[in-house]
Amino acid sequence: MAAITMNHIVKQYGDGFPAVNDISIDVADGEFMILVGPSGCGKSTLLRMIVGLEDITSGDMMIGDRRVNDLAPRDRNLAMVFQNYALYPHLTVYENIAFPLRLAKTPEAELDKLVRDASATLELDEHLDRKPGNLSGGQRQRVAMGRAIVRQSDAFLFDEPLSNLDAKLRGQMRTEIARLQKRLGITTVYVTHDQTEAMTLGDRVAVLKRGILQQLATPRELYENPGNLFVAGFIGSPPMNFLPATVKGSTVELPFGSVEIPAERAERAAGRGLLIAGIRPEHFEDASLASDSVRTGSTFSAKVDAVEWLGNETYAYLPFEAPAEVRAQLEQLEKDLDGEGLRTQLVVSLDGSSRIAEGQDAEIWVDGRRIHLFDPSTGENLTVDHEHAGRILGAEVNSGKA
Ligand SMILES: Nc1ncnc2c1ncn2[C@@H]1O[C@H](COP(=O)(O)OP(=O)(O)OP(=O)(O)O)[C@@H](O)[C@H]1O
Ligand SMILES: [Mg+2]
Repeated sequence: MAAITMNHIVKQYGDGFPAVNDISIDVADGEFMILVGPSGCGKSTLLRMIVGLEDITSGDMMIGDRRVNDLAPRDRNLAMVFQNYALYPHLTVYENIAFPLRLAKTPEAELDKLVRDASATLELDEHLDRKPGNLSGGQRQRVAMGRAIVRQSDAFLFDEPLSNLDAKLRGQMRTEIARLQKRLGITTVYVTHDQTEAMTLGDRVAVLKRGILQQLATPRELYENPGNLFVAGFIGSPPMNFLPATVKGSTVELPFGSVEIPAERAERAAGRGLLIAGIRPEHFEDASLASDSVRTGSTFSAKVDAVEWLGNETYAYLPFEAPAEVRAQLEQLEKDLDGEGLRTQLVVSLDGSSRIAEGQDAEIWVDGRRIHLFDPSTGENLTVDHEHAGRILGAEVNSGKA
């Protein structure tokens, strides 16, 4: 096993396009690192540079204390698990797992032990004599992982391994990969565009946008302290709401009314003019249900456009007006996130017992402690707690207008 260190890695393809633009990430020995971001942000390119399937334009790629830029893939001792698993259809599961050992001319007894150990770990014992074509997607995935395990590689690299599976199996496999990774303690880099996978699997998550690292932090840090609008909009489902806002003293003026926020947050955003406020759907509640124990927070009244009752929770949709300056930034953000286009409406997640109905003027409570404030020109989160936000890139390259 080994740490993987990426130092100022750049990849320019033949046409000059910087697919990966000066990315530095350190993956600790045994760590589960996620690379996440929308399509085309450079995730696969970065992964392929780690494995050696793509030349590195500049920067240093280190595995352990070896610089591997000029090493062939087979000399890097890494195991890549591809999306389509690349299993040999005419070989049994046993022989598929044994394949790299046969290539390396491993003695039969040792080979057999390694294959059987891997198969036990992966719960494939009863399938060893079967052919991959007769297996489920999840079983095939495990065979591919078995092949990686027997090679005793320094690290596992996954590129969207679950994207071919249906939702239920994807959930199962996610749990399985997480469990195996913990058990094997093997350094892992995992590429996905799915923020749920990123949140549930990663020890840390690197969020990429157009070849640039936006933030590198634990899932909790990303969620609670997103460094900029892009990360805030990308992490979380349903996504964070964005509204025009101005700060006066320790009060934020929102389209629906004013909300008290903690003084230190207000101070960091003071004297800035028009801002973008970010509030997650779950930080609202039906005012009649908001717990008495929650003293901070404010209530406001808003017209309810639509309601979706899910049993355990209720989504309510509250439209609002936004000035052109804020709209422009939010439209750009929607494009960056591959979104469905801008809709200026607040989505709030209320307790399932809420009786709020369509067409009503509803009393809504909001938790003022959780409101983020973003600079509308750079996208920088002004309220972020830098001590708990991991690594955030400078605001100049994070501008949504770039
Ligand atoms: N062989 C290539 N030649 C030129 N440009 C390329 C090549 N491969 C990828 N690119 C470009 O590099 C950028 C990053 O591509 P990459 O495949 O790394 O994205 P990704 O984040 O993995 O996206 P996805 O989620 O769609 O797989 C894209 O803009 C892509 O068009
Ligand atoms: Mg890709």
